[in-house]
Amino acid sequence: MNQGYWERGYRNVDNLWGFTPNNLLSTYIDLVPKSGKVFDVGIGEGRNALYFAKQGYKVEGIDISETAINRCLLLSKEHNVNINAKVDDIRTYDIKKEEYSLIILSNVLNFFSIKEVNDIITKLKNGLKENGLFYINVFDNEEPSLTIAKERCKKIADFTFYDEENKMYLHYFTQEELENLVADYETISFVKSKFLDVTHGQPHYHSTLEILSKKSRS
Ligand SMILES: C[S@@+](CC[C@H](N)C(=O)[O-])C[C@H]1O[C@@H](n2cnc3c(N)ncnc32)[C@H](O)[C@@H]1O
Repeated sequence: MNQGYWERGYRNVDNLWGFTPNNLLSTYIDLVPKSGKVFDVGIGEGRNALYFAKQGYKVEGIDISETAINRCLLLSKEHNVNINAKVDDIRTYDIKKEEYSLIILSNVLNFFSIKEVNDIITKLKNGLKENGLFYINVFDNEEPSLTIAKERCKKIADFTFYDEENKMYLHYFTQEELENLVADYETISFVKSKFLDVTHGQPHYHSTLEILSKKSRS
């Protein structure tokens, strides 16, 4: 159980992830019907949730960290918006069927085993309405911190490790693997990025993949 790892991360700083929503989400916000509900999985302090709530969307979210949820609720009060955020674990969470117009998995999926990833994706797809959007952002197999995982963690597969100290999986996605997770959906946008992250801690590089896809029959 990796709850302790995330709790420590949040308790050590006033704000861990900043306030800027993910670029693809703000670019395509108009594709999400105003009447639709947004579900943010691993909502953190709510940088994406706050953005959608401020635009008038009903927003729900869960996170395994109580500190993150309390901070998200406090921020939503300060910004005069309502976010229904609760402490919960996505691995055991029961999602309402075809309830949401947008589901967000921002920087969350890297911390599970492959089996857990597949189970989470199947579950979340059930929670999406027809024509709903699914946003996933992950570190890929060129992510610089992969080197650290290789040194410090137990290797499970080529890009999957188990961090025994923090009791958590670390999985780095290939492009094909991420695309396969939503192969039955229509791709709206796919972005591969390498960038210097200056939002938290010492500036450091990341290598990420983002996919925004749509659940549609055609
Ligand atoms: C890297 S942070 C990203 C936070 C937020 N999505 C963002 O982009 O700012 C990963 C988040 O996933 C949460 N998390 C990790 N495992 C989880 C689980 N099993 N269920 C729900 N949330 C989880 C962590 O507590 C943390 O807030």
